[in-house]
Amino acid sequence: MNIQQNISLKSYNTFGISVYAKRFISVTSVYELQQLLKIEKDVFLISGGSNILLTKDIEKLVVHIDIKGISIDQENNDAVYITVNAGEDWHEFVLWCVSENYGGLENLSLIPGNVGTCPIQNIGAYGAEVKDTITKVETLNIETGKMVQFSNAACKFGYRNSIFKNDVKGKYIITSVSFQLTKNTHNLNSSYGAIESELASKKIKKPTLRDISEAVIAIRKSKLPDPKEIGNSGSFFKNPVIQKSHFLNLQKKHPNIPSYPVISSDTKKSDTEVKVPAGWLIEQAGFKGKRFGEFGIHEKQALVLVNYGNASGKEIYLLAKKIQKSIFKKFEISLEIEVNVI
Ligand code: EPU
Repeated sequence: MNIQQNISLKSYNTFGISVYAKRFISVTSVYELQQLLKIEKDVFLISGGSNILLTKDIEKLVVHIDIKGISIDQENNDAVYITVNAGEDWHEFVLWCVSENYGGLENLSLIPGNVGTCPIQNIGAYGAEVKDTITKVETLNIETGKMVQFSNAACKFGYRNSIFKNDVKGKYIITSVSFQLTKNTHNLNSSYGAIESELASKKIKKPTLRDISEAVIAIRKSKLPDPKEIGNSGSFFKNPVIQKSHFLNLQKKHPNIPSYPVISSDTKKSDTEVKVPAGWLIEQAGFKGKRFGEFGIHEKQALVLVNYGNASGKEIYLLAKKIQKSIFKKFEISLEIEVNVI
């Protein structure tokens, strides 16, 4: 087992924050992971590093999950069942699905991170959530070293949420995720406003999976910073859900305040609550595009905090706190941080 000493984690987190791991190991198989856990259980896991803000050096053994491999378990005329190991890059997997004409993930193109972490926060974008294609999640119980499967229902998926962020947080390591995707008849989801206009601008009337994927890539590139160029972790906050009565009061003062219906798991619209885009609130509070030396708020999407190169995690965290305070003062809304702050 190759445990390295004093490794910078800068290239292991999309925020590009330079903190150090006292000890670091990359594991490439479930077997290796099981052997490691026999010796040391209190470890710090890192995968694609796309949803963490590192504010200090890591004292625990850092385990980088680098287990690769994609296998087709079963297929018929309508569907294909695929299992993907945790260390596969999410976007490369989506592109592979699009090239094979497997449908269901095309709206989730260009999301940074690895496959193993997609169920944790139930990644979602442009009208799609990954929960709608996941059949099961295979995990390793850290305490017992045994494999445990979670069915889709057992994952208790919600908006940017799952059991892995709540009841069983820190107890299991996700080793693979299985998906059910469409083969011949796809349920294309192009109704999201920005996708519709992107397709219209290209005069595409009957989009293919590739057309949708390309439209999403173009939209994301136009709004969101590429972590390879500017460090970031995508949306830093969740879009808050507020009482409708509160929303109606805010609307009197801010007639342009946008909102989305809150949809429950049985696809019913809530009568009492609405979701408000945090990016709008942050922009109204005057933060959009503000730069404070090495860190700031992205100029095209106020939900995204950025590291221009040498910011510390603490500085970014303090900026997030300042934004939360300001939004509460202005709108009486508590913004919840979506990224894991370490
Ligand atoms: N808005 C502003 N100012 C901004 C940003 C947004 O006024 O700076 C307004 C827009 O005008 C629009 C609304 O907010 O009316 C929604 O904006 P957008 O469509 O960009 O989506 P979002 O709600 O800001 C969510 C996800 C994104 C995902 C997009 C597209 C969350 C926390 N974020 O953002 O996810 O890509 O929808 O589906 O739900 C991510 O998680 O890393 C991420 C980028």
